Amino acid sequence: MNWRIHHKKLTASTNLDAMSGSPGDVFTADFQFAGRGRLEHKWHSSEGENLMMSAVLSVKGIPAERAATIPLAVGLAVAEAFPAVDPMIKWPNDILANGRKLAGILCERHGENVIAGIGVNVNETSFPSEIALKATSLAILLSSRQSIDAVRDSILEKLASVYGEWRFGGLDALADRLSKRDFLKGKTISVIQTDDDSSPVEGLCGGIASDGSLLLDGAKIWAGEAHIAKF
Ligand code: BTN
Repeated sequence: MNWRIHHKKLTASTNLDAMSGSPGDVFTADFQFAGRGRLEHKWHSSEGENLMMSAVLSVKGIPAERAATIPLAVGLAVAEAFPAVDPMIKWPNDILANGRKLAGILCERHGENVIAGIGVNVNETSFPSEIALKATSLAILLSSRQSIDAVRDSILEKLASVYGEWRFGGLDALADRLSKRDFLKGKTISVIQTDDDSSPVEGLCGGIASDGSLLLDGAKIWAGEAHIAKF
């Protein structure tokens, strides 16, 4: 894939910028004043310290249930882009290293495309108090500042190959690699389902299924936020 990079110093959200793009366009920014996270959360990032990027991927001709699994493929590409810190994927798409959040992904469907929004903590070393114990960055993990452009390029290289495999073979083609990085698999977890009003459910996590759901005591969870209940 020949990516075309469009960089701005300041924007509301690179995911919003990407809505005007075509497959292969990549939108980046030094600062977002309305950065979006999953579940209506905001995504905060200090100016010029981190990667904020949105890549436009085509899902034309792919059935909706299959297209819905693309966030996991994007998560795998991000995780595999940093072998030095061996990241894990916490379903649906938090990227953790050393048990803390290194990157977040927000995929949004836009017509025949998916906007893959990726935020990576690159050089941030102090986080707001509410996430201070849960977040990390490449600079913290590797004990030195990193080039944001090099991080961008590593992710885009991986994304091109993982997207190609996913397009051809779906999540099945990535199952072994996903399973190796599945943070929740085999742990007792609690899940707040976001497509359902019921109270949190707890159980043994069987890992990520090839349809993109999370297996909890054999049942499928389609959307939600998971936490480790017991180690
Ligand atoms: C999350 O963990 O909640 C997902 C965070 C995704 C943040 C990225 S930063 C680049 C892109 N633009 C946005 O507004 N959000 C995503």
